[in-house]
Formats: sequence, C-alpha cells, structure tokens
Amino acid sequence: MTAPFYITTPIYYVNAKPHLGHTYTTIATDVARRFHDMKGAETFMLTGTDEHGDKIVKAAEKSGQSPREYADRISRMFAELWPELNIHCDHFIRTTDADHISVVIGILQKIYDNGDIYYSEYEGLYCFDCERFFNERELVDGKCPDHGKAPETIKESNYFFKMSRYQQWLVDTIKQNPDMIRPERYKNEVLSFLKEPLEDLCISRPKSRLQWGITLPFDDRYVTYVWFDALINYISALGYPDGENFKKFWPHSHHVVAKDILKPHGIYWPTMLRAAGIDVYKNLMVHGYWNVEDSKMSKSVGNVVDPEYLRKTYSTDAIRYFLMREMVFGLDSSFSESAIINRINSDLANDLGNLFSRVLGMFHKYFKSTVPECDPGMKNDFQLDLNADAQTAISGFCSAMENFEFHKALAAVWEYIGKMNKYVDVTAPWELAKKKEAKTQLDFVICNLLEGLRVVSGLIYPVMPETAAIMQKHLGMAPDKPFYLIDEIRKWPQIPANRILPKSISLFPRIDPETILKPEASASAQKVSSPVAPEIEFDDFSKIDLRSAKVLHAEKIPKADKLLKLDIDLGGHTRTIVAGIAKFYSPDELIGKTIVVLANLKPAKLMGVESKGMLLAAVENDQCSVAVLDRDMPAGTRLK
Ligand code: MSP
Repeated sequence: MTAPFYITTPIYYVNAKPHLGHTYTTIATDVARRFHDMKGAETFMLTGTDEHGDKIVKAAEKSGQSPREYADRISRMFAELWPELNIHCDHFIRTTDADHISVVIGILQKIYDNGDIYYSEYEGLYCFDCERFFNERELVDGKCPDHGKAPETIKESNYFFKMSRYQQWLVDTIKQNPDMIRPERYKNEVLSFLKEPLEDLCISRPKSRLQWGITLPFDDRYVTYVWFDALINYISALGYPDGENFKKFWPHSHHVVAKDILKPHGIYWPTMLRAAGIDVYKNLMVHGYWNVEDSKMSKSVGNVVDPEYLRKTYSTDAIRYFLMREMVFGLDSSFSESAIINRINSDLANDLGNLFSRVLGMFHKYFKSTVPECDPGMKNDFQLDLNADAQTAISGFCSAMENFEFHKALAAVWEYIGKMNKYVDVTAPWELAKKKEAKTQLDFVICNLLEGLRVVSGLIYPVMPETAAIMQKHLGMAPDKPFYLIDEIRKWPQIPANRILPKSISLFPRIDPETILKPEASASAQKVSSPVAPEIEFDDFSKIDLRSAKVLHAEKIPKADKLLKLDIDLGGHTRTIVAGIAKFYSPDELIGKTIVVLANLKPAKLMGVESKGMLLAAVENDQCSVAVLDRDMPAGTRLK
C-alpha cells in the first residue's frame, strides 16, 4: 500500500496580491501532490492565507478598509487564482477561520498549562516590518537583513515560549532524521544556527499596540504573535486533535517553503509541536528565490511578476512547465520573459509539439486514422527499443520527483522525447510507407511511437495536466481511466488496435518574441504595483473634488530632487501645490498646461512649502505622465 501524502504551502500574507514567488511554491506543491496521485497514494494538499498581525493592519489602513474586509478581498484573490493555474487544493485555510482560532487557543493553553509559556519583561531590538525581535548576531551591519532598517529598541512585558528548552532535542531530531529538512544545505543552515544558544520566543503582542490577532486564552490584554498563530494552520486544517484527517495525514506531512521562512519552519514549528506533545512533521522542503533579471522581486523596485499576466500571455501549462523546468529546487533562479519564450519554443513547440504532430500526422496519413494491429514482440532491424527507453525514463522521472527535483524529472522525459524524435529519423516511416513488403514494419514503428507518446502524456501529467489530457484524447485512451498512474504508464502496449483517433492538433504554437516583448510590454510580466482599490459607491466618489487648473508658474524646490512647486489658477483664485514630478518634467514644460487637481485634499507641508491640493499623474517605474484636459476648459471646472 502506498502511504498517504500530505503537502502544504506556506499560508501567504494578505498584504499583497499573489505574485510569481507564491505561484512557484504553490505549483511545485501541486506537482508533488499530483506525482503522489500517480503512485496511487491518498493525497491532501493545503494552502491558504495568513491574515493577522501588524503588516495586515497597515496594508488595510492604506487601502481604506477594515482589516477584515481587506483580508477577505486579498484572500479571495489567492483562492481564485489557484484553480486558474490548475492547482487543486483540498482545503484553503484562513487564519481568521473560527476552527483555526479555536485550535490555536487550545494549543496555547496546553503549552501554558505544561509550564512552557511564561510572562516576563523584555527589552530587545524589534523590527516592525518583520514583527519580531532580533538578536545582535542576526542583524547585518546593525540592520534587519530583510528590510535593511535598523530595528528599534523596545521594552515590553510579554509572554514567552520556552523554546530554549528544546534546543538539544531539536538538534538530535534533525540528526536522527536526515531527510527532515531538505535539501541538505538548509538542514545544515538550521544546525549551524542551533550551535549558538537558542533564545525563548516572544509569542504575544500587547493589545495597546496590536489588536488584529487571536487573544491569548490566559491573558486578554494580549494577542498571539502571528507566527505562533500561522504555523498551527498545518494541523488545524486537518481537524487536530481528533479529526480523521489529522490521524491519517499528519504522520505523512511535507511542508514546502522558500528559504526566507526556514527559521520559523525549521526551529519554531518543531519545538512548538514538541511542547504541545505532537509528533514533528515528516519533512520540510526548502526552495530558493526567484529573482527578476537578477534583482530581488520587490514592490518598491516595481518588478513584481503578475501570474495572471503570465497565464493569459503564455497559458497555464507553459507557465507550470517553465517554472518547474527552470528552477533547480533549493537554488535561486532568474526569471525573464525571454527565458519563458525560449523554453516554449524549444522544449514545448519544437521537441514535444513537433513529435506529437509528426507522429500523428504520419499515423493519419498512412492508416486513415485507425490504429493498426501490431505484434509488440516483433523482430525488427532498428536496434532501438522505445519500450525499454520508456521504462528507463519512468524510473528516472520517479526518483527525481521523489526528491522534488522537478527539473531533473522533466529532463528525463525530454531525453525520452529526444530518443523518440531520433527513432522517427532512423526508422523513416515515409520510406517504409513506400514499400508494400514493409507494411508490418510500418505498423510496428507507428504503434511504438503512439505508445511512446502515451508514456510522455502520462509523465507530463503532474506538470502539464491539460496538455496530458489533450494528448490522451488524441491517442484514443479511455477518458475515465486514470492514465497517469505510474503502474498504468509502465504497461506497454495499451492503445487498442482498430481504434479510430481524432485528427491531431498543434499542442504548442511557436511564439514570436517580437510580438510579446514589445517595448511597452517588456517592463512586462506586468510589474503590477498595488492591488486594484476596492469598489466604492458614487457617494464616495462625490467627496472627491477634481478641478481643471491652469499652471501659471512652476519652479524647483531647493534641496528636493523630486519636488516642483506649482502656482495654479483654480478659476478666479490661485493656489500653490507641490508635485513629486521633478525627475520627469522641467518647470517650463508645465507652464500654461491645463492639468487635473484634487482640490479638496487636506493641505500638507512638503520641504517647508504648503501644498493645497495634488495634481494627477500616471506613474509607473521610470515613466510619468501628468493628466491634462484635451480641450480648452475654464480653470476651476469640476470633473465628474
Ligand atoms: N505568512 C508567512 C508564512 C506563514 S506559513 C505558516 C509568509 N508569507 S509570504 O506571503 O511572505 O510568503 C512567503 C513565501 O512565498 C515564501 O516562503 C515562498 O514560498 C513564496 N515566495 C515569496 N517570494 C518568493 C520569491 N521571490 N521566490 C520564490 N518564492 C517566494 O512568509
């Protein structure tokens, strides 16, 4: 019996909409899960959103929504994206779910009752962006390594989890279970961190500072630290403590995360489990980071890659293939659209697509769409054995997939595709078709090629489920049979004689890079900034007073690189506004223009100049265009 398989992604913060990084982890998790489906295992995949904490409160404030409304909106974006990318999760958890909250409360109480949570005053270095205390040696040049800001010293009474108590236990556990944290480099990273004394973990935040969290069951003046809440999702989703799913799946748990959250998963989580008397997870799989053309993806740099754009431009299967083929699991990888196009054109259109249309093209031409009878054991002169090669490819694929080496698994399949293409060249069916006496040879060659395509369709299933299904249909396989089961794929031959196959189609058309990487699209992978603002009522809009205004005078503000001071005519009276567009416009360019101004914005002082209003402009990366009216209108006219 194949063991059950439970796999999780991190639960993503709802302070930003889904991007390439989240997409990679979630697809990799879906691929691993589908591979275990192929082995015949009972599988369960979990993903979701992490919704408490200061980060979320700040993001909600920015978008003018309550934390709950905001979390609902962004969480929905994640939940709706995954099915579009053919990711099938069994449960989508939110840390604001009542079931989850009650499990967190239960575990906090249990650990508190066991004496592993204590109350104490603490002075320490706190990074507000990470929402955690740092010790000196974790800082780089005195700054938070993730946010590049010096943490602030704060003094507070809080609750602490006695993590230090479990340090030796954790070292022993990791050493006794060499597969617990993989790849090896991340296991070593955790072990090297554990060479220094482990500090206790501050697990509360005073409500005076933060209210958006789970109230501690033993002190209602505090909420739970977001990590102590979030990590528990992995068991609350299974119905811990009594749920059937918990009993069935927890002993077979695999967490997939990127290197940024190794410490909470490699240190906090196992010690929390131990303190709560729960077995540690089976396995933590850690992957590297996607960089965009060699720099870190970040909202402020404006190079955040939007998965929705990728899907619409290149198709779900192509994106899944690219991400799994390009990244070596565990190492960082560089993303670029030209790399996607190369992979599509060479691996998908050229190798796989051509093979598929070549073989089916010959089949329809020589056999009038009907599968011929053929003896699989027939003696032949070709010295090439597609069945034996298929068995080798299947074994290589399986052992790589077991280790999350998706790129290697796909390379094994593509090696086989290469062998099939060679088989076509060597056997030259078009020559056999010319000779009557070679009929059985032609039958044999084409049947082998059809079977080879069947194997390929099974092996690409976890990465490209849609393409796999299309191939299956064109190979005349019964749609209800789980063609992707490894044991089924191995059986050769399987395509029944006399079956009529549908006309072939093109699997992956080639992409012309020119049509996609045009200058206006090339900043592409749509460097989308903030999520679209929530819907508003007309009443809300009517609070906004937009007016046409004529620029009378403009000048730079000394010592402020970005700011221009503009005197504007608002219809009978003049005003001064300050605009952050000095990098894009010289003062002269603006004088005389009729611009659009938000006239009822609260005045604010910028570099000592009071600004009474704000001009409107489209700003993205290094481009800026000020909104102007395209016909003459009197200054001061209201826009509605
Ligand atoms: N909420 C926490 C996780 C709690 S799990 C109990 C969190 N959320 S997150 O939104 O910041 O997501 C981090 C994860 O997103 C990474 O571990 C990784 O899975 C994915 N990625 C985010 N950016 C990434 C890249 N640039 N490259 C690859 N994956 C990345 O941390």
